[in-house]
Amino acid sequence: MNQKEKFSKDDGAEKVDESQYRSLIGCLMKVIGAQLYNSLNDPDDSVRDRDGHGSHTASTAAGNKIKGASFYGVAEGSARGGVPSARIAVYKVCFQSGCADADILAAFDDAISDGVDIISVSLGKRSAPNLNEDSLAIGSFHAMAKGILTLNSAGNGGPNTYSVGSVAPWMVSVAASTTDRQIITKVVLGNGTTLAGSSINTFVLNGTEFPLVYGKDATRTCDEYEAQLCSGDCLERSLVEGKIILCRSITGDRDAHEAGAVGSISQEFDVPSIVPFPISTLNEEEFRMIETYYISTKNPKANILKSESTKDSSAPVVASFSSRGPNTIIPEILKPDITAPGVDILAAYSPVAPVTDEAEDKRSVKYTILSGTSMSCPHVAGIAAYIKTFHPDWSPSAIQSALITTAWPMNGTTYDDGELAFGSGHVDPVKAVSPGLVYEALKADYINMMCSMGYDTKTVRLVSGDNSSCPKDTKGSPKDLNYPSMAVKVEETKSFKVEFPRTVTNFGSANSTYKATVINTNSHIKVQVNPDILSFKLEKEKKSFVVTVVGQGLDSIEAPIAAASLVWSDGTHSVRSPIVAYIDRNIG
Ligand SMILES: *[C@@H]1O[C@H](CO)[C@@H](O)[C@H](O)[C@H]1NC(C)=O
Ligand SMILES: *[C@@H]1O[C@H](CO)[C@@H](O)[C@H](O)[C@H]1NC(C)=O
Ligand SMILES: *[C@@H]1O[C@H](CO)[C@@H](O)[C@H](O)[C@H]1NC(C)=O
Ligand SMILES: *[C@@H]1O[C@H](CO)[C@@H](O)[C@H](O)[C@H]1NC(C)=O
Ligand SMILES: *[C@@H]1O[C@H](CO)[C@@H](O)[C@H](O)[C@H]1NC(C)=O
Repeated sequence: MNQKEKFSKDDGAEKVDESQYRSLIGCLMKVIGAQLYNSLNDPDDSVRDRDGHGSHTASTAAGNKIKGASFYGVAEGSARGGVPSARIAVYKVCFQSGCADADILAAFDDAISDGVDIISVSLGKRSAPNLNEDSLAIGSFHAMAKGILTLNSAGNGGPNTYSVGSVAPWMVSVAASTTDRQIITKVVLGNGTTLAGSSINTFVLNGTEFPLVYGKDATRTCDEYEAQLCSGDCLERSLVEGKIILCRSITGDRDAHEAGAVGSISQEFDVPSIVPFPISTLNEEEFRMIETYYISTKNPKANILKSESTKDSSAPVVASFSSRGPNTIIPEILKPDITAPGVDILAAYSPVAPVTDEAEDKRSVKYTILSGTSMSCPHVAGIAAYIKTFHPDWSPSAIQSALITTAWPMNGTTYDDGELAFGSGHVDPVKAVSPGLVYEALKADYINMMCSMGYDTKTVRLVSGDNSSCPKDTKGSPKDLNYPSMAVKVEETKSFKVEFPRTVTNFGSANSTYKATVINTNSHIKVQVNPDILSFKLEKEKKSFVVTVVGQGLDSIEAPIAAASLVWSDGTHSVRSPIVAYIDRNIG
C-alpha cells in the first residue's frame, strides 16, 4: 500500500511540508502495534509506557536515528537502534506487580500470529524453572516452530554462578558487558587532587568547593560504625547542612540529602546509575585516599562535578550483575550464549516514567541511561533483525548460530567464570551477516533433546504445544544437540572423555573447504576434531564431524573451568565455537 497516499487522504496532511511529513510518517510507522496483557489486574491498565523500560529496549533494537541525544548533556551523540528502518510491535506484559506467565504466553501467541520477524524479551526469572514450567521457554519454542527467533536477557543475577535464568537452546541468552564509553563523576579535593568517581550525576553545584564532613563526625546519637554509613537518623542537620558528606555506604545517600548535605560521596557499588542528588561513588583505593585527605586536613573541602564521558580501554568486560552459567536445567547447553553492550546505555525513554526511584525527582526525559541485560538483549535482537534483512529465509537456529560463531573472543583469564559469563564472546554485527557455516537445529532436534533429558511425551508436549512425542528408546544426551557451542559438566579431579557430534551447513559459497583449528591453552583438556577438513561442493550442503574432548584434573580451587575453541576456517570465514568443561560447584 502507498502509505503516503493513504496518509494524506485520511488525515488531510497535504499542508505539512516534506520534512515534517517524513518525520510524522517516521513516528507513526515506527510503533505499529501495542497490546496490553494484564491478568494481574494491575492498576496501570494502559499500554502507555509508564516505566520507560520498554521504550528503552525497543529503541535500542529498532529506534530511528536521532542526532544530539543525551541525558542532560551526558553521553551526547547520535542515537539509533540496531535496525532504524524496522518497525516495532509492543506487547506489554510487565507491571510493578510483576509479569504473569499467562500474559507472557498470550503475548507470544499474538506476536507469532501478527507475523513478527524477531522477538526481543528483556525479562526473566532469577532461577530457571523446568522447561515445561518456563513461560519464556514455551513461548519461544512456539515462535521457533514458526520460524521466529527469540532473544532473551540472561538476567541480572550475577556475579553468582548458576544465576542465568534463560536456559532453552532455542533462544539466544544475552549477557551484558561494558562499552568503551564510560561515565564518570569527578570528585575534586581541596588539595587539588581529582578522583574519577562513578555515578550519573547531572547536577552542577553552585560553588567550587564545599566543606567535607565524614558521617561518623556528623552525629550526636549514633556509634561510629552506624554513623559512617550515614544511615537512618544518625546525621545531625547542623553538622551536615551545606556540606558534602562522606559515607561508607551508598545506602546513606538519601539520608544525607534529607539532612541537608549538598552532596554525598560514598563507596562504589557495581555499575553507576542515575542519582537524584549530587552523588559520586569511589572505588576502594579512591575512598581510602579521600579518607586520608579528610583525616590529615584541617579544613577538608571537596566538590562533585557533573558527569562526563571518558574512554574505557578495558572494555568490554562482563558486568558483575550479568547472570552467569552454568545452565541449571540443561548442563550441556552453554548459557549465556553471547554478550553485548549493557552498561550505561543511552536510549529513548518515556517522558511519563520516573528517572529515578526518588519521589522528589520530577525530571522528565526523552532519553535516559540504563544498565542491565535488559539493555544488552535488544542490541542482539537488532542484530538478529539486521541479519534477517539479508537472509529472510534463515531459520532461527541459523541466525543464532551466526551470532554465536562470529562473536569475538573475550579474555577468559580476566574472569573466574570465563565462558560461563560471556558465552562465545562479544557480538559482531558485521561478521554475523556472513558466518560461512551454520549449526542448524530444527523443532525435531529440540524435541529429541528434551526426550534425552528424560522428559516424557506428556512433558514434551507441554512445551511443544503439539502432538510431538519421544521415541520408545531415547538415546543420547543434550550434548548431542547440534548447538554452536559445546559444554559438559564433569566430576572433580576425575578423567573424562566426551564426544560432541555436530553437523554444519554451508551457508557460504559452493566449492569451499574448511579446516579445523583448535585454540587451546588449557592444560586440563585436549580436543580432537574428526574429520578436520570439510569440503563442500554445494551451497546448503551438510557435513558432519565429531569433537572429542578428553581431560582430567579439574578442581574447585585451581581449575573449575577448562575452555578451548574450535574454529572452522576457509580463509575468509572463521566459524568459532567455544568448548567448555566445568565442574559442578559454586565457583562464584
Ligand atoms: C544552583 O543555582 C541555580 C540558580 O539559583 C539553581 O536553579 C540550581 O538548582 C542550583 N543548583 C543546585 C545543585 O543547587
Ligand atoms: C591530596 O591528599 C591525598 C590524601 O592525603 C593525597 O594522596 C594526595 O596526593 C594529595 N594531593 C595533592 C595534590 O597534594
Ligand atoms: C588476558 O588477560 C591477561 C590477564 O589480565 C593478560 O595477561 C593477557 O595478556 C590478556 N590476553 C589478551 C589476548 O588480551
Ligand atoms: C498429530 O499428528 C498427526 C499425525 O502425525 C497429524 O496428522 C495431526 O495433525 C497432529 N495433530 C496436531 C494437533 O498437531
Ligand atoms: C564447483 O566445482 C565444480 C567442479 O569443479 C564446477 O563444475 C562448479 O561449476 C563449481 N561451482 C562453483 C559455484 O564455482
